[in-house]
Amino acid sequence: MLTPVHRWVWSDAKRRVDKLLRFGETETDGGRDILRAAETTSDPLLRRLYLVHAIDEHRHGELFRRRGAALLRALPPHSKPAFQAVWLAPGGHGLDDLNVDEESDDAWLAFLHLSEKAAASRFTVYRDVMQDDPPTRAVFEEILHDEVFHMNYTLVQLARVSPRRHRGRLWRARLSRLWKGYLRLATAAAGVVGGLLLTIQYFVLLPPFAWLARRAERRELRGWTPVSRAGGDSLTRQY
Ligand SMILES: [Fe+2]
Ligand SMILES: [Fe+2]
Repeated sequence: MLTPVHRWVWSDAKRRVDKLLRFGETETDGGRDILRAAETTSDPLLRRLYLVHAIDEHRHGELFRRRGAALLRALPPHSKPAFQAVWLAPGGHGLDDLNVDEESDDAWLAFLHLSEKAAASRFTVYRDVMQDDPPTRAVFEEILHDEVFHMNYTLVQLARVSPRRHRGRLWRARLSRLWKGYLRLATAAAGVVGGLLLTIQYFVLLPPFAWLARRAERRELRGWTPVSRAGGDSLTRQY
């Protein structure tokens, strides 16, 4: 349904470059979190899978950055920064929402599964709207292949680690993501409302002060004003 919107978002060359470079950072950051999860887990199989996963995410970061840099070199000089439309076309996995050190294996796996699922569905749309740019489309295609594997192995491992509670864990992770999404939306809305109120204040409250200042300026004498000698010897006042 949102395909035309995504087509518009990715149609701007400068925005495409910025997005790819930002996606590169997000993938690498996500890889670091997963590497941390590999260090903290006591499950040997999970550790192996997390290491493979972290290497994948690091490679995704490289792929996005390399493609972004290639497109950046092809941009005309002094290209204007475009509106980023982060809300319309977000990237990455949203792994920043969870502190790896404080989570159990099953909570982390549930969260990871949902994040990978979200990334896979986004990248599918981005790949599909990239018909005019085969190399970028190929990057999304390659990354999408890995994201589908990440999405599947996390679910299988969640069911293995927590056979009885894995559905509950998934629901908890879903609600947590929903809540974080609401908080992000509320923060963005607060920023817009705050900006609007300050603009209204600027145009409603400042004009009377400007008018008073102009009136006071008209009463001021022009040029140099002679100062009487009497009382001019104070060390604390000018006159
Ligand atoms: Fe990735
Ligand atoms: Fe992934």
